Amino acid sequence: MKPLLVLLALLPLGLAYYKLESAIDPIKMLYNYTGIGAITLLLLSLLPSTCKRICGVNFLRYRKTIGLLSFAYALLHVSVFVVLDSELDFVTIFEKSLKKPFIYIGLIAFVILLLMALTSFKKLFAKLSKYHKAVYIALALALLHSFWAQKVAGVFEYSVIAVGVVLLGERVWAWKALHVKTF
Ligand code: HEM
Repeated sequence: MKPLLVLLALLPLGLAYYKLESAIDPIKMLYNYTGIGAITLLLLSLLPSTCKRICGVNFLRYRKTIGLLSFAYALLHVSVFVVLDSELDFVTIFEKSLKKPFIYIGLIAFVILLLMALTSFKKLFAKLSKYHKAVYIALALALLHSFWAQKVAGVFEYSVIAVGVVLLGERVWAWKALHVKTF
């Protein structure tokens, strides 16, 4: 099942590769595919525990794979910025970031995802799993970043915000219910 999940998640990349030659602005297209891929998978990585609480279905074993796939997309997204768009020129990277502060927000989200990916392996995860709650900060920052990056927000931006608010809201509700019960 996990290999199928990886294959499905990588399909958009295959599509991006196929469309690359005919794209009017290939770099923008790559930002689009990798950014949307990262944020969609990040939202999907929250679904297994929501499913378990609400309908009792246990998909928790796929959570790490989905999270790592989201990180892989985020890494490609950052590589588009550093390698393709800025041609590894650190002065350009610095200047672009000064002009577009939403890049700093994306950078913080990326660093959180990187730390989570590095500590997602068994031994470290056992010690540091409580810090993985930082995924909520990463998600909130990634939502802000993608919203801010657009001149005009469209259906995708409003949809991810709505799904993000529902998933985070359900967690707050579940947390409150647990604390009222155990009080
Ligand atoms: C160092 C980290 C990051 C950098 C430098 C960066 C850079 C950018 C840039 C320059 C754009 C605008 C592209 C355009 O011209 O349309 C953008 C858009 C976007 N970014 Fe990031 N980003 C970073 C991290 C992230 C992360 C961690 C996520 C998600 C988890 C993300 C998701 C998005 C999304 C969804 C868009 C909008 C894509 C679209 O609809 O075209 N970014 N990013």
